[in-house]
Amino acid sequence: MELRELLAKRRMVRSFDGTPVDPQWLGELCAQALWAPTAGNSAGVRLHTVGPTLTREYFEVATDVEWRSNARRADGLQRAGAVVLVTSRRGEYVARYAEADKRNSGLDDETNWPVPYWHTDAAMATMALLLLIEESGWQAALWGNFRHEEEILRWARIDDEDLFATVLIGKADGNDVSSSSLARDVPSRESRVRAVEP
Ligand SMILES: Cc1cc2nc3c(=O)[nH]c(=O)nc-3n(C[C@H](O)[C@H](O)[C@H](O)COP(=O)(O)O)c2cc1C
Repeated sequence: MELRELLAKRRMVRSFDGTPVDPQWLGELCAQALWAPTAGNSAGVRLHTVGPTLTREYFEVATDVEWRSNARRADGLQRAGAVVLVTSRRGEYVARYAEADKRNSGLDDETNWPVPYWHTDAAMATMALLLLIEESGWQAALWGNFRHEEEILRWARIDDEDLFATVLIGKADGNDVSSSSLARDVPSRESRVRAVEP
């Protein structure tokens, strides 16, 4: 499929049919996603795969009983066939930008970073992964990181990394509860592009 077509076709899917994802295949796909650009070649993004035998445990750590029993999308999402935790090693970015060829950036001090490149890199790899998933005939939902970060990192035995987001992967079962975000009246893509003119 053409890249343009893939970009337009990819949509978040939040109801899966329970088909398991092959962990080895997923590991290879994740390695491909890490062709994504990385600031200063810091290579500080990590993709942690959670195979189908562990997804139930993952959801127990990443959500709570109330969500699992009441959320409209809980069942569909929990039928994901695998999960990928996208993390980044902030310390490696700061260390990289303290190296001789980067030191004059002033970014050897973490508090000076106007844009935290560790999150930027994580976003780049995440988008690459979403497109690869789409190209492979699977679907995905992205969960931002706003709750249970510590518990998830501890459970996955991840040290010294920030959780950027989580990608839930599976085969769509067609029962998606449409996101309220999609009902928003947002400016068109074309209108969000502006040519700077003198
Ligand atoms: C940084 C980020 C965080 C997101 N967090 C969530 C989330 O926690 N839960 C969710 O269902 N969707 C989440 N989304 C998905 C967006 O809601 C979705 O991309 C948006 O509504 C546009 O829909 P589309 O991707 O299907 O085109 C997130 C997307 C991004 C980029």
